[in-house]
Order: sequence, then C-alpha cells, then structure tokens
Amino acid sequence: MKNKFNRLTSKEWLPFQKSWFYYDTEQKFLTENIRFFSKAEEDNSIVLYDGNSNELVQQICKENNIKYALSNKQDFERIQYAIIDLREIITNETNIDDYRKVKQGVISKVLSIYQKLEHRRFISIFIKNIQSDSHYYPLAWDLAKEISSILTIKDEKIACLREVSENIASSSFVPKKDVFYCLYFRKDENSCGEYTSSEIDFFKSNSQSASSIIFENHIPFWFILKPQPRKKDEILHPAKYPEELVEMFINEFTRENDNVFDPMSGTGSTQIGAMKLKRNGYGTELSDFFAGIANNRCNQYINPSQKDLFALENRQMFKILNKDARMITNGDFPEIHYMLTSPPYWDMLNMKGAENQAKRIKLGLQTNYSEDEKDLGNVSDYNRFLEELSAIYFNIIKLMKPGSYLTIVVKNIKKKGKNYPLAWDLSAILQEKLILLPEVFWCQDDISIAPYGYGNTWVSNTFHQYCLNFQKPY
Ligand SMILES: C[S@@+](CC[C@H](N)C(=O)[O-])C[C@H]1O[C@@H](n2cnc3c(N)ncnc32)[C@H](O)[C@@H]1O
Repeated sequence: MKNKFNRLTSKEWLPFQKSWFYYDTEQKFLTENIRFFSKAEEDNSIVLYDGNSNELVQQICKENNIKYALSNKQDFERIQYAIIDLREIITNETNIDDYRKVKQGVISKVLSIYQKLEHRRFISIFIKNIQSDSHYYPLAWDLAKEISSILTIKDEKIACLREVSENIASSSFVPKKDVFYCLYFRKDENSCGEYTSSEIDFFKSNSQSASSIIFENHIPFWFILKPQPRKKDEILHPAKYPEELVEMFINEFTRENDNVFDPMSGTGSTQIGAMKLKRNGYGTELSDFFAGIANNRCNQYINPSQKDLFALENRQMFKILNKDARMITNGDFPEIHYMLTSPPYWDMLNMKGAENQAKRIKLGLQTNYSEDEKDLGNVSDYNRFLEELSAIYFNIIKLMKPGSYLTIVVKNIKKKGKNYPLAWDLSAILQEKLILLPEVFWCQDDISIAPYGYGNTWVSNTFHQYCLNFQKPY
C-alpha cells in the first residue's frame, strides 16, 4: 500500500480525471477529492481540512477509514493531503482589501503545511472568482500564481453548479449559473517551500468598471455543446470551434448588422456564425490554404445553390484577408463591434505525441496549421508567444468601437508535466488596455478520457476551454 497513490480502482480513478464536473452535493464533492488524494491509512499521516465543512469531512474520513485533522495545531507527524476551502470565506461581498488579508493567511497556512506534507502529495484550494459592483476580480488565478511560488501548480478542475446563483447582482455582463475553482498543488522536486510574491497583477483593469450591458440573452458561466459533425472541408483544420459557440456569443454581445471580426479565422467559423445571425463577418488568416477554405465557405453561404436562392433575404457582408494578423491596418476593415477568436494554443500542435495528433496522422490529415514561421503556432518560446499574441490583440483594439466586447477562446496548457496557464497569463497582459469581464467555460463531454498518471499521480484530462471576455473602455 505504501507506494500507491490512492485506493481507487480505474473505474473510480478515470471519471475524476475529467477537468470539469457537475457539483451536485457537498458530500459527493468532498468524498471524491478526499478519496482521490489520500492513501490507505498509514500511521500518523493525516488528511487536513481547513474550511467550513468540518462535520462532513469528519464523517467522510471516518467512513473511509482515513485519519484526519481539522486544524494544523494538532499533534501529527505527516500530512498526506490538505484542503484549504475558501468558498464560504470569499464571496461576492468580499472586497479586495479583505481578500489580501485572506491571501496572507492562506500563504502562511500553506508554508506551515509544507513542512509536514509528504513528498509528491497535494494541497487543494477551493475558491471562486468574484464580482462586486461592476468589477470582476479573478482571485483564483491570483492565488494560484502566489501559491505556485511555494508548491508546484499541477492542475485545476472547474466545479459546474447547475442552479442559477441568486446572489449575483450586477449591471454588467454576468453569466447565469455558477462555477468555482479547485486548484491542485504538489510538493515535489520542483517546489521550494518558500514564498515569493507574484509579479503578475490580475486587478489592473479594476480602476474602470464595465459599462452596463443591454443585451438580454445571458449566456451561462459554463456550457456543453453538441455540435453538428464537421463537414469534409472543416475537418482539414486541426482546431475549429463550432458555429453553435459563435452564435451564442454573437447573440450576447452584438446587434444585427454589427461587424464581427476574427484575426485568426481558420475555416471561417466566426464569419459564418456572424452572417447566420445577420451580422457582417470580417477577419484575417495567415495560411492561404485555410483562408481559401474560409472564403469558400462564406461564398457558399452568401451564394447558395439555385434552389436556395431566395432563402437569404438580408445579404450580409464578409471579407477574410489571407494576411498575417500582425499586419492589419486601419484601412483594411470598417469599425469593428465585436471580436471573437481563438489563437493557436502555443506550439502544442507540434507535440506529435498527443492523442488527437496520432488519430489525425492515421487519417492522413494535417496536424498543425502551417510550417510558416509567422504562424504563432510555431513560436516555441512561451513568453515570446504571449507577447506576440497580445500585440496582435492590442493592434486590433484600435479598430474597435469604444465600449465594444472581445471574446478569446483559449486553454490552460500542460506541456511535458509543467503547467502553463495561458488563459490567465493572457488575461493579465490584456488588462493593460481592456476591462476584464467574467470568463465562461466551454465544457467538453464528447472526448474519451485517457488514464494519465494512473496509479502514480494526479494529471487531469483538460476538457474545459476558457472563453475570456473583455470590454474596450470608452
Ligand atoms: C485555433 S485556429 C482558429 C480556428 C477557427 N476559430 C475555426 O473555427 O476554424 C488558429 C488559426 O490561427 C492562424 N494563425 C496563426 N498565426 C497567425 C498569424 N500570425 N496571423 C493570422 N493567422 C494566424 C492559424 O493558421 C489557425 O488557422
């Protein structure tokens, strides 16, 4: 038993590996975490819980024959798993100064837990991002960065609540339903046990509040899509997003006849979705192959076959240039009312080992966007990638109407066992010029789970994508 990571069979292990889950009951949620991260009982090694569900944790540990402690002051030698549960401590009523105090407390707790935490074992922190008044505070991202100077950040899971939260009151963009973050940190060969303050400022945009939004089709904090199967030309692209997603966001953030823009158009999903909803679709795409597909798809939509000729009453405009997004100038497009886009997820498509890549190779399909060095998917240095990507967005902001919105679909990335929180890092940079709004999760449930780390450690299957939302200030 000593070397086993936990007591679970593969039947219980696999479902836990999905990076998002339905939060149904507190009991189920805590039981799943405690069972996953604790080994069979060992002398004087405990599970430590710090939060408001003490009685429940006691009951769960007893039922599962696990030694536990509800405070760090008790007498025990070693910790095999610790939970710091901030869900009742940080709420939408918490202000930023209160949060800073809570954060100092959490850092001290983590430092003291570190001393007794066994090698390669985990601390979980459960926390929400909050909105108070018209400001949005990504506290989970901030805390994750701070704690990752002490321990190695390994993963995150998104708890998706099915009920519409009642205590969210705001005049700005507030999606329905609710989520919270489960952050997972490990003590291992890469963690140092010492705290250094993070240089990233996640609260830059909060000096400006988001203006109230007049659109009414509020989208949920998280959603699952059942997209139409991809057509022959669409499958040629390694990472297309579904038009169902495009339509949802365009409905939320634009009005009829608005101009929607995507600097990295791929197969033209953004423009097709825009035209379906009587908006105009504009954009650029670096690859001439994909720009061709995007233009063909749009042309077919605008000029349907003879029998459908009278189906489209309001002909919409589209223009997709085969161009490096870095070279967009003011003269290329009219004023833009909304940007919806998804960048290359760093150079992940060049990692041939990924499961999806193997499948595409087998089918004789292209696995990356291009070999072009101007293609951001070929930039191998993470910081350079971030810089170049944000420079593209900063350039496009100049074409956008003040007060208009932007949505970027992106993922946090795990590469060679290391965590690169691309969604959080990008948001932090973009806040220099944009107001951050609540993020929305696209949760995928149509991909089969791979047993990464089975029997050894915790590695999730990342099945959630961030839809990051921003507003251009007036
Ligand atoms: C994630 S894909 C976008 C897919 C698109 N949303 C769709 O549904 O088809 C990213 C796209 O960015 C393009 N790209 C990469 N670097 C670029 C650059 N410098 N300028 C313009 N497009 C670029 C790639 O060719 C790729 O098609």
